[in-house]
Amino acid sequence: MAVLVTGGAGYIGSHTVIELLASGKEVVILDNFYNSCPKVLERIKALSGKEVAFEECDIRDKAGLDKVFEKYDIDSVIHFAGLKAVGESCQKPMLYYDNNIGGTVTLCQAMADHGCKRIVFSSSATVYGEHNVSPLKETMTAGGTTNPYGTTKFFIEQILTDIEKSDPEWSVCILRYFNPIGAHESGMIGESPNGIPNNLMPYITQVAEGKREFLSVYGNDYDTVDGTGVRDYIHVVDLAKGHLKALDKAYAENGTFIYNLGTGCGYSVLQVVEAFEKASGVKVPYKIVDRRPGDLATCFSDPSKAKEELGWVAEKGIDEMCADSYRWQHNNPNGYED
Ligand code: NAD
Ligand code: UD1
Repeated sequence: MAVLVTGGAGYIGSHTVIELLASGKEVVILDNFYNSCPKVLERIKALSGKEVAFEECDIRDKAGLDKVFEKYDIDSVIHFAGLKAVGESCQKPMLYYDNNIGGTVTLCQAMADHGCKRIVFSSSATVYGEHNVSPLKETMTAGGTTNPYGTTKFFIEQILTDIEKSDPEWSVCILRYFNPIGAHESGMIGESPNGIPNNLMPYITQVAEGKREFLSVYGNDYDTVDGTGVRDYIHVVDLAKGHLKALDKAYAENGTFIYNLGTGCGYSVLQVVEAFEKASGVKVPYKIVDRRPGDLATCFSDPSKAKEELGWVAEKGIDEMCADSYRWQHNNPNGYED
């Protein structure tokens, strides 16, 4: 029996594949390389010492998915495949709705057609919208998302919930990630953004590596410890391990389950810069600029439900997250492009 990992060549997917292989699971990676490249597959092989089945396929391609389900004995899916750039989603909403929502519906149809009814889905803290106050809990009302990317996550959560309601043989685990950063401690796999990074940590690592001159800090007049935005950063390997626990849940029980994956601790932008400088020994010049539209002052999780029900807690702290992010960037200045 194999786990199908859609988007398994991406940042979080590749780290999760490593953990799945280490736990003895059989894995099939499916990706269309929209935001990743084949090189990551070589790295996964070198790191795990295992050959991993790979299928180049788009999750919107029903016939292609059918072939994959016919070829392998797949009894669960971890569904990472999706587009994730907030700004781009505002410019190209149809692309995001088609790829993320259309793709998920097609994937679920293929799963149902082949009797595979267990799915772990990559959602985001963004579904809590602007109206909820941190620490964010799964019992809070989701919605009120502020961009098409966030709305795709919110809608997909609803769609998966409805699918499970219509057929109680399904098991749906929805994981709401907070801010994944860091990389595998080997420095062999990590986040490899195209172009100018949108997110904080890849921007910091590129400044540290001399690829960018300085970090723009988006506002220092928020109601936070030092005026800069506070987030719940989580090491990507901890996040990956959370997927194995969620998979266990999906095998053990049918139903729809929602979990925050975060540490429960918030760090401001300047606290992250300071931790990064300490971990790397490299100075990160920064300038305070205007707030970024759509940003919240503070966003962090209450991760207690995942601890109680999955037995999962994040173990790695901010220093390790920074050290591992830097190692990855330093060993691979151009990501997988070298
Ligand atoms: P990523 O872009 O590195 O990985 C996503 C992968 O999916 C890529 O390899 C891409 O090529 C693939 N893909 C996209 N559309 C596809 C399609 N139609 N068919 C097949 N493959 C397709 O992103 P990531 O950071 O690893 O994120 C994984 C998932 O987690 C995404 O769904 C993302 O929205 C979600 N998420 C990420 C974050 C984050 O900060 N990174 C936070 C919350 C949620
Ligand atoms: C962003 C997305 C969110 C998505 C998440 C993961 C927005 C508004 N939100 O979250 O929907 O789920 O990424 O992909 O884009 N910062 C700087 N300078 C930078 C970059 C960031 O000061 O160059 C600050 C931000 O203002 C924020 C913090 O760093 O306070 C974290 O930003 P980022 O990494 O982009 O994550 P989020 O905004 O939390």
